Order: sequence, then C-alpha cells, then structure tokens
Amino acid sequence: METPTVHEPQWWRGAAIYQVYVRSFADAGGDGVGDLAGVRARLPYLADLGVDALWFTPWYSSPLADGGYDVADYREIDPMFGTLAEAEKLISEALDLGIRTIVDIVPNHVSSAHVWFQQALEAGSGSPERARFWFRPGRGEHGELAPNNWRSQFGGPAWTRSTDPDGTPGEWYLHRFAPEQPDLNWAHPEVRQEHEDVLRFWFDRGAAGVRIDSAAELVKDPALPDYDYDSAHPDGEPHPYNDRDELHDIYRSWRVVADSYPQPRALIGEIWLPDPERFARYLRPDELHTAFNFGFLACPWDAEALRESISTTLAVHAPVGAPATWVLANHDITRTVTRYGRESTGFDFAAKAHGIPTDLALGTRRARAAALLTLALPGSVYLYQGEELALPEVEDIPADRIEDPMYHRTGGTDPGRDGCRVPLPWNGSAPPYGFSPAGATAEPWLPQPLDWSALTAAAQDGDSDSMLTLYRRALRIRRNEPALGDGPMEWMESAPLVLAFRRGPHFACVVNLSDAPAPLPEHSDVLLACGPTPGGLLPPDAAVWLRTPLVEHGAQVAPPRAG
Ligand code: GLC
Repeated sequence: METPTVHEPQWWRGAAIYQVYVRSFADAGGDGVGDLAGVRARLPYLADLGVDALWFTPWYSSPLADGGYDVADYREIDPMFGTLAEAEKLISEALDLGIRTIVDIVPNHVSSAHVWFQQALEAGSGSPERARFWFRPGRGEHGELAPNNWRSQFGGPAWTRSTDPDGTPGEWYLHRFAPEQPDLNWAHPEVRQEHEDVLRFWFDRGAAGVRIDSAAELVKDPALPDYDYDSAHPDGEPHPYNDRDELHDIYRSWRVVADSYPQPRALIGEIWLPDPERFARYLRPDELHTAFNFGFLACPWDAEALRESISTTLAVHAPVGAPATWVLANHDITRTVTRYGRESTGFDFAAKAHGIPTDLALGTRRARAAALLTLALPGSVYLYQGEELALPEVEDIPADRIEDPMYHRTGGTDPGRDGCRVPLPWNGSAPPYGFSPAGATAEPWLPQPLDWSALTAAAQDGDSDSMLTLYRRALRIRRNEPALGDGPMEWMESAPLVLAFRRGPHFACVVNLSDAPAPLPEHSDVLLACGPTPGGLLPPDAAVWLRTPLVEHGAQVAPPRAG
C-alpha cells in the first residue's frame, strides 16, 4: 500500500515536493496563461506522479514585473490566476489527494504597486510611510547620483530616483532586484508584523509551509556603505545586504508562528550562500526547517564533486538536526537536460548563457541518472515542473516575447530565465499542446517549440522508457521504501568515478559517472534502472536502485516483505 506523508507531522523531512510555476502549468481559461483552475484539473496527474507537496510560485495580485515576485497584495490571488476562494479549494482538494501546499512568500521587497509603496511616494521625504522602505537623498550636488554603489541582481544600479508629488526629482529608493520591486526595511516593526500576519493568513487557509524568497537578503546595513565588488568578501566581516546576523531573530519569530499550529507549518528558505556553515545557521532548531541546497544544484556532473557536495551537505546539516534538500532545477535555472548536455555542467547564477553547444541525448541520460541519485539521497527533494518530462531549455524565444527583467536589464547579455518557464506540453502534436483548451483566444504567453510533441505528458504516459515513467516509478518506490527520504546513508566501496551508497540494510543506489560500464554490487533485485544494464553492468551516465540482501554486522539480513 502506498503511504502518502499526509499524516506525518514532520513531513518536510523527507517529502518529494513539486514546484508549480502557475503561469506555465495549465491554462483552463484559454487566455494563454496558466491558472488555478488549470492546476485543479491536473491534480490527478500530480497525485499519479506521486509527489507529497506542491510549492506554488507567487500567485498573488501582481503587475508581473518579475513573474509575480513583485507582490501587490498577499491576500489576493491575481485575477489572471483565479480567486482566493479557488486557492482555498485547490489547497483542500490537493490535501484530499494526500498532497500538501507550500506558498511562496517574498519578504525582501514588494511591488511598486503595493499600497505601502504608493503611500510612501505620495507622503514625501522624511515621512513615516517612507520609513518602511529605503528612501535616501542622492549624492552629488543635486542629488543626481545614487546613494551608494550597490548593484541590482538583475543588472544595473540597485537604486532608482523617485519623483516627488510636484513632479520634481526626489529621493532614491533601494531595489536589489527590479525597480518595480522596492526593498522593505526590516528594521521597521510594521514590516515584521505584516509578514507574520501574512504567514498566519496562509497557514489559516491550510498552507502546510512557506518557501521564503531571497531569505538571506532582507536585512541591510543601515549605514548603506559602498560595497567592493571586485575583491573577495573578507571572512568574518558582515556583508552590507546578505546573510546578516540580524536575520536569525526574524526567522525565530516566524518559527514561533509556524509552531503555533497543531500541525506545525514548514519554513523553507531560498538561501544562496557559498559557505555551508553559514547556510546551516538558518536551520538551527528554532529557525527554518529546511533550505534549498544550491551548492548541490550548482555542482557539475562529476563524481568527486558530487560526492564532496553530498558529504558536505550531510555534515553541515547533522549538527543542527535539519534534513538536507536536493534540487536540480527551478524557475531561475537552465533546464537540467540542457545543462547536463554541455561541456560545462555546473550552474553559475551569474553566468546564465544560451547558444552553447548542447548534446540533449547525453543531457537527458544524465538527468535520468541524477533523478535516481537525488530521489535516493537522505532528506527532501524538489522537482520543478517539466523536469519529469525532460523538457529542455528553450533558447530561441524571440526577443520581443521575452519578459524576464534579467534579460531586459542586462541589455540582453544575460538571456534571462524565460527559457525554463515555457508553458508545459500536455498532449497533441503542435502548440499549445493542450496547455490551453481547444478554442483558446490567445497563444501561450511564451511560445512553445514546434518539436515538443514527443515530450508531452500524453506521449510519455505508458512509455516504459520515458522520463515521466521513470519519475513515476521512482517516486512510488521512494514512498514505499522505509529507508528512503529522511534518514542516514552510507557510502559503499565502488569503482573510480562511480557513486554507490546504501540507505538502510536493503537498499543501494549506484550512479556511474565514469566512461566505462561499471560492475554492480551484490544484489537480489534491480528495483529500478535508468535503462538496460547489459551483462549486469551499469553503463556510463546511468543509475540503478538495488535491493541488497547483504551482510550486516556479519549476519545475513532478510529482505523486507514486498508490498
Ligand atoms: C528569487 C526568485 C526569483 C526572483 C527573485 C526576486 O530568487 O526565485 O525568481 O526573481 O527572487 O524576487
């Protein structure tokens, strides 16, 4: 019998979580944009896939200057996506299928259309309304220079000059992302209070957790000093806007909110930090429950680098008692099959690039092996919509259709992130591939490639060699296998450039990153393989899950009963 994690109080420790980029998941309304009705209609697909929770990228009312990460009102669903009542229905319908819901909270900034920012613009310099943000006079004789040299994550300066109510140039305001995303001042008590209320608002509606956007960036040095971008950040020196110690107090108070529910809600941080020890500080028992493991995501497809990343991850999580997470992709990152099909298989957020020669067949083989690797590692795992269909990055979106501010603010030098956000293909042989209903009035908001008919969910359904089938099988086994998900792991001896590890006494995962077929350890059964294992050997760029009735402490251990 399958055992969905719905009754497990600490479900986040081992869950398989599926990221829904709502705008591109399924369009029931026919306007070319995904919506909540589309997700509701596809819940059976998600239940069948076998995921434990859904993380929805922001669905709140928003001008969509950054795909919804510019929130105008946390308590409303954008009409493009649906209504609040519909979100509540979606949360409860998903739960009926054993699937929890995680919503996305964006505390670093709001949309410039948010009522607070509008009030701040109107109220003028020195007003209490402006104190919720970072308004400062400019430098230079006429205030024509930005208050400091900070850069926006999306390119260009992190400051924009505002216009006073009388039409003259006024103070500057800080935005670490797009100008439509003014940064909040987290030293302000109302900013803290409001976010705790927003957490309760969604927890009261059944959300089982929140994903916290840009979680290490909220607090700024109030002196707003210039930053030296050309040198390595000195060890031990506080950074002016990243990973500041004051953040921990904020998350401790969020934890009190999360723990006040009879079924505690999970706090999941989006934390990009190169130092794993600093990263783990956010996961102390009274702070966040888990955080995305971007170190692993950025890791190249290389046995020693992966082994090192996995071991370091587990070593830094252990002292704080938090589960690790494993992520290969999300809505900000080059699609896995494309990334793994290139000469350089790692990921550097600062250097997203298109047009590099890509061997998609190789990338897909590696992505299949990586799926079995991540789903077997201890902790929770995140799956980004379309990964289960092996969708590649779309690299030829016409410039006039690209929406990502990262593309526009870098003058096109950075191709941006729309290539991994293209609407999903569900069925059929031509766009919109069932993404929008027959008779839709508009094309999908981003154009879909013409050669995706073999990648649709319908085309892959029932095909024993498809990525979809591999994910379905793997997730099913993962759910039924007590040793998978949360728990310990142990490296096994293996041939060079082969990763092999044991989960419990009866389960082993082997991944071959060498260029020669590798022998398999002793096993009684192959539970799942990426592909054929001719002659009992594991081909390069393949992985396998094994039942291992092996010796433990010198005794032969019987395999668990099937089912
Ligand atoms: C996070 C999101 C990204 C967004 C940014 C600003 O990194 O994942 O999509 O652009 O925050 O909110």
